[in-house]
Amino acid sequence: MLDLIQVDLSIPVTKELTACLSPEELAKARSFHFDHLQRRYLVAHAALRNVMSSYLTRSPSELSFVKNEWGKPSVPGGPHFSLSHSDDLAVIVVDLERETGIDLETGSLALTRDEMTYVLSPEELAERRERDLADADHLQLWVRKEAVLKSLGKGVAYDPSRLTVGFHSLDFNRWREVSTIDDGARYDFHLLDVRLGAMSCAVARRDEPLATGSIAFRSWSPESGAY
Ligand SMILES: CC(C)(COP(=O)(O)OP(=O)(O)OC[C@H]1O[C@@H](n2cnc3c(N)ncnc32)[C@H](O)[C@@H]1OP(=O)(O)O)[C@@H](O)C(=O)NCCC(=O)NCCS
Repeated sequence: MLDLIQVDLSIPVTKELTACLSPEELAKARSFHFDHLQRRYLVAHAALRNVMSSYLTRSPSELSFVKNEWGKPSVPGGPHFSLSHSDDLAVIVVDLERETGIDLETGSLALTRDEMTYVLSPEELAERRERDLADADHLQLWVRKEAVLKSLGKGVAYDPSRLTVGFHSLDFNRWREVSTIDDGARYDFHLLDVRLGAMSCAVARRDEPLATGSIAFRSWSPESGAY
């Protein structure tokens, strides 16, 4: 089972909302110069704590997060999860069985097509030469790559050009197999395009695919409690 939870980051920040956050999370929020960036960080992390606590017998403030050497967070003893935020929207994916990764982009491509050349694998470069591809195709390819690299746990510390996800057209009903070799070990993933309005979003999970019907779409707000 895989839960995909949307969070509106434009809501007001209240004392009740942020009471569950750790001193480190509050300090990280304060490190952002702009108010809207502080707000987005505070809401996203309060939501993450509330969502994760609903799978556990601990309150949101009791959860402790640890990070791997590339910054991927996890909750010891908790389900696998991944968080992505873009503008005023965050998505959290929770997977009870497999390591997972999600990426969301609400806007346009941050990289130019020339810069994208450096993140494309040789197979993707060949595909781009053969087809007339729009910026939207590049953006979807990018979220697919980030979802897999976040599931791997290395993010873009892993050279994205070593991974082939392809420019194939959107398919919200089919998990596609993707693999990569890192330090001699093979890592298999399944990748799915996620339908979220006009936004670009993809989710990846290690090893096994899931029936698309096993994905539950929800949203979280302070009023909804857990969600
Ligand atoms: C993970 C990464 C791809 C984020 O991409 P992004 O599009 O800018 O941001 P997103 O909103 O999609 O994701 C951010 C979230 O991913 C998670 N994350 C951070 N590092 C991660 C990693 N290595 N793997 C998986 N997830 C990661 C966090 O939950 C983070 O949320 P937070 O910043 O609010 O705590 C990018 O930051 C990255 O590659 N980081 C690792 C690079 C590295 O070498 N870090 C070493 C220093 S710790």
